[in-house]
Amino acid sequence: MSDTILVTGGAGFIGSHTCVALAAAGYNPLVLDNLCNSDLRVLDRLERITGQRPGWIEGDVRDRALLDRVFAEHRMAGVIHFAGLKAVGDSVADPLGYYDNNVNGTWVLAQAMEAAGVQTLVFSSSATVYGDPDRSPIPEHAPCRPANPYGRSKRIVEETLGDWQAARPGWRVALLRYFNPVGAHESGLIGEHPQGRPNNLMPFVCQVAVGMHDRLMVHGNDYPTPDGTGVRDYVHVMDLAEGHVAALRQLQKAPGLLTLNLGAGSGLSVLQVVQAFERASGRAIAYEVGPRRPGDVPAYWADPSLAERVLGWKARRGLDAMCADSWRWQQGNPNGYA
Ligand code: NAD
Ligand code: WQD
Repeated sequence: MSDTILVTGGAGFIGSHTCVALAAAGYNPLVLDNLCNSDLRVLDRLERITGQRPGWIEGDVRDRALLDRVFAEHRMAGVIHFAGLKAVGDSVADPLGYYDNNVNGTWVLAQAMEAAGVQTLVFSSSATVYGDPDRSPIPEHAPCRPANPYGRSKRIVEETLGDWQAARPGWRVALLRYFNPVGAHESGLIGEHPQGRPNNLMPFVCQVAVGMHDRLMVHGNDYPTPDGTGVRDYVHVMDLAEGHVAALRQLQKAPGLLTLNLGAGSGLSVLQVVQAFERASGRAIAYEVGPRRPGDVPAYWADPSLAERVLGWKARRGLDAMCADSWRWQQGNPNGYA
């Protein structure tokens, strides 16, 4: 019998791709999601890709009674916890809502796991916990100075799960700090479909390519970077998904606390992404240079060497694959799963 893994937020962007990687590795994903930022029809797509429909529970991770029922009804080998809110601007407008969803949600989940005797947890953290780093590449021991409520919600969860693992040394906890996830499954059947106007670069570029916007606004070209535009560490979502499987496998070998960067280990500028996307899509991406976006950091990228040493994981898919796969998904699904 294959191990069942509870995937909270598994209907979302990274969670759905991780369901594919879990199935490929012989695990049995069971998705729990309240659909606040996703679409149930993703399950049909997952079934087409993997030949296996993931288990499904509609509900909120803060619903302790629901979690108790789920853990009573399914023997779970571990939990991958994606469920959370991720829009930095919304977190500034509604900090308590963000702390409730992201922090309290994780605490309720961990308490339900403890009661059920499930002690293996992989948590979606973010490079945003570093804030504006002193230098790149960023190692895991760099200081954490999150600059907004979203980032602080991730850091609070990291610290409190660290306390919890110290108090319960039998627990197996991985805190995975993702850099900038982009791309889509190579089938083009699942991908990222932001609600409303995208904040993030790659979905916006995709929408410019299909004519939904007449141009990209480049948020500043006067940064101290090679071409003046912001530099980030873009990591293909399927590489990220496989990183979760590697983390789970490592946790199944030994109890402990792992804090790991998941990034490609190199920085790319906004204009490099635009040019690669033009090559992948064969479409011109019109852009205009505007002012810097408030709160943006000029440049940062990961030192992912610890993840390679501990998990044997490293990002394999490059910028061209990220753009080609994003474009395939965008072209085939201009309205997401609708
Ligand atoms: P997403 O919004 O696509 O997925 C999150 C999923 O969680 C959605 O399906 C949503 O409906 C669900 N959800 C939210 N709150 C819930 C709750 N209380 N109960 C049950 N379900 C709930 O986002 P994503 O990009 O897939 O991100 C997944 C996780 O990774 C998040 O925790 C996010 O903060 C983190 N992360 C994302 C990025 C990124 O750039 N995408 C970077 C670093 C970290
Ligand atoms: C990338 C670069 C922009 C849009 C965010 C969150 C972070 C993490 C990942 C969750 C920057 C530039 C963007 C546009 C542009 N998420 N840009 N025009 O800001 O690095 O990170 O997502 O944990 O917490 O803050 O990603 O994709 O928004 O921006 O010029 O229309 O693209 O200025 O240099 P960011 P992004």
